[in-house]
Amino acid sequence: MTKIAWVTGSSSGIGRSLVYRLVRDGYTVAVSARGTDALADLATAAPQHIRPFPLDVTDKAAVQAVTETIEASLGPIDLCVFAAGSYTRDYAAGFDSDRTRQMFDLNVMGTAQCLEAIMPRMIARKRGHIAVVASVSGYVGLPGAASYGATKAALNAMCEALYPELAAHGVKLTIVNPGFVDTPLTQKNDFPMPFLVSAEEAADSIADGLNTDRFEIIFPWKMAIAVRLLHALPHKLRFAITRRMLRPSGL
Ligand SMILES: NC(=O)c1ccc[n+]([C@@H]2O[C@H](COP(=O)([O-])OP(=O)(O)OC[C@H]3O[C@@H](n4cnc5c(N)ncnc54)[C@H](OP(=O)(O)O)[C@@H]3O)[C@@H](O)[C@H]2O)c1
Repeated sequence: MTKIAWVTGSSSGIGRSLVYRLVRDGYTVAVSARGTDALADLATAAPQHIRPFPLDVTDKAAVQAVTETIEASLGPIDLCVFAAGSYTRDYAAGFDSDRTRQMFDLNVMGTAQCLEAIMPRMIARKRGHIAVVASVSGYVGLPGAASYGATKAALNAMCEALYPELAAHGVKLTIVNPGFVDTPLTQKNDFPMPFLVSAEEAADSIADGLNTDRFEIIFPWKMAIAVRLLHALPHKLRFAITRRMLRPSGL
């Protein structure tokens, strides 16, 4: 029987590469993002197996409606990957809480609304797998990523809290914490991005990780070691390192 996946944020970057990999793995994939043209273009690669369901995840009613429509047309969803997200840098000087709110609305509330729509269905079926894409920037407060890092830390905490209860209902939950991935999101960065991987490599790390029983998928391994070490340091040492990441615009 064909397995059904739903990937949000799938019109570009990590989500788009993951769709191709999931199709190779035998899934029919419902793809969601706001850009209808980009979704239609994505579907041309395998029209039978890539099915566009345009969606703005910040619209709660639309999330409920699209979840219903996907299951009515394709059948019960086996795997969800919630990757819709965005990132803008922010600094103490000129800090703008409107930017914080926008990132929370998309990265946290958009994901929460998707979880709200799919969890009761999977709990009722006593099966299913949900993966939430956060970031290594949720591990440590990094200069320039105050709001973005806060959204990704929130997703890590949310998933850690939901995991045991979902597991008791037979539903698997995975948190995905990527390091730097070469996508339109990071192509606007004008600073060195250590251990940068391609979107295809990221998709393979995610898809391979989803086939294990690990709660967390974190990659690449060098970045995983770096953020875990940084996180384990006392604040004095941690700030001695993060202070070196300050840039002229962040002073
Ligand atoms: N690239 C990295 O280094 C990196 C590292 C760690 C974590 N991540 C996370 O990985 C995820 C994917 O990032 P990416 O690098 O692949 O970025 P990307 O290429 O910019 O892709 C973002 C995707 O999210 C969609 N999206 C944006 N707003 C949306 C909304 N309101 N509703 C539905 N879809 C929306 C975009 O499509 P539309 O604009 O058409 O809606 C696009 O498909 C994000 O959650 C990001 O935070 C990325």
